[in-house]
Amino acid sequence: MADEQRYIVDVFVGALSPHYEALSIQASKATSAAEIVLCIADKLQLAEPAAFELAEVVGDEQGRECKERRLAPDERPVAVQLLWPRAAAAAATDGAGHQQEYRLYLRDKLSDALWTESFAMDPQVIRDYFSRFMCQPRDREYPDLCQLPDLTEETLLGNLRARFASGHIYTYVNSILIALNPFKFYPIYNPKYVKLYQTRRLDELPPHIFALADAAYQKMLRDGRNQCIVISGESGSGKTESTNFLLHHLTALSHKGALACGVEQTILAAGPVLEAFGNSKTAHNNNSSRFGKFIQVNYKENGQVHGAVVQKYLLEKSRIVSQARNERNYHVFYYLLEGASEEERRQLHLLPPSQYRYLSQSECNSLEGVDAKYEFSRLN
Ligand SMILES: Nc1ncnc2c1ncn2[C@@H]1O[C@H](COP(=O)(O)OP(=O)(O)O)[C@@H](O)[C@H]1O
Ligand SMILES: [Mg+2]
Repeated sequence: MADEQRYIVDVFVGALSPHYEALSIQASKATSAAEIVLCIADKLQLAEPAAFELAEVVGDEQGRECKERRLAPDERPVAVQLLWPRAAAAAATDGAGHQQEYRLYLRDKLSDALWTESFAMDPQVIRDYFSRFMCQPRDREYPDLCQLPDLTEETLLGNLRARFASGHIYTYVNSILIALNPFKFYPIYNPKYVKLYQTRRLDELPPHIFALADAAYQKMLRDGRNQCIVISGESGSGKTESTNFLLHHLTALSHKGALACGVEQTILAAGPVLEAFGNSKTAHNNNSSRFGKFIQVNYKENGQVHGAVVQKYLLEKSRIVSQARNERNYHVFYYLLEGASEEERRQLHLLPPSQYRYLSQSECNSLEGVDAKYEFSRLN
């Protein structure tokens, strides 16, 4: 038996009607797009129904259109509507205004007209028409590279460059996050941002490393399964910093609503110790990690952090006895020699770094912006 249930299909008509923004049409699952176009054309008294078609449009959080798809005449708009995410359908009514909006639009059927009349048309007009779809508009940035209308190496890099220039260092490729190292401080990691990105879907807010941490955390709680975040990039690209931001957010999440316990502090405090013993100045990065790291954060069922395991591997041991030009030994030696008290110096017979061959090959005993005394105090 045919599914006779009636559904409401809202079709936005834009400039096609001076009176209505959208029309609500009753339809069944079997009603075709062509039938709905006919029905609206009738209501709006449009002379040529065949000149119109339906399009499915997905808008982003600012209400700008970002994806649109033409519905074939025999497609079933009710079925299309039923595929839209529930949350997105609700967003239209609850007025949250942050989520993606899905809509059906009635628009001029451009493509068919173009094909049938193309011979009569000026080639320049055709080129202009296609260039609108085929070339990425220069004035637009896409927070997700999957949204690029035309995906080539050039448009991809162009989009990243444009975003970086306007202060956006993060861009998604679906659930992958690309981070461009700004080499300067951005005030986007404070508690306000931790809160902002909690329990949000990735596409709700501008891309951010906290959003990724949050997505993994929520998925772990929801599915009860281990989650994994892989961070990769060339030296100096920001892996260590990103890991710290991730850990920061993951431990902050676990804090929520629960009594602050010392486990989070212990996990975060391990960072400076690991970095003192495993990081050093290289030609390109003043704080280069010279080892690989696998961090496992364990949670209780209620989402609180239970503990963490850090596995270290492949430490660059040769650095202890020889370093390349412009490079240093591991930070910890310089921190010790700078930060030890008079008493400790005497007991351990410590000398200034310049007196040790293993430490003085680079003649770089202090680093700009690093307070070795303070770093030493963090190791205790
Ligand atoms: N998100 C960021 N914001 C600001 N500066 C950053 C960021 N990521 C990296 N940096 C800067 O770049 C330097 C190198 O980053 P780092 O994480 O050590 O690289 P990697 O671990 O990939 O070799 C850092 O010391 C820091 O100054
Ligand atoms: Mg590193």
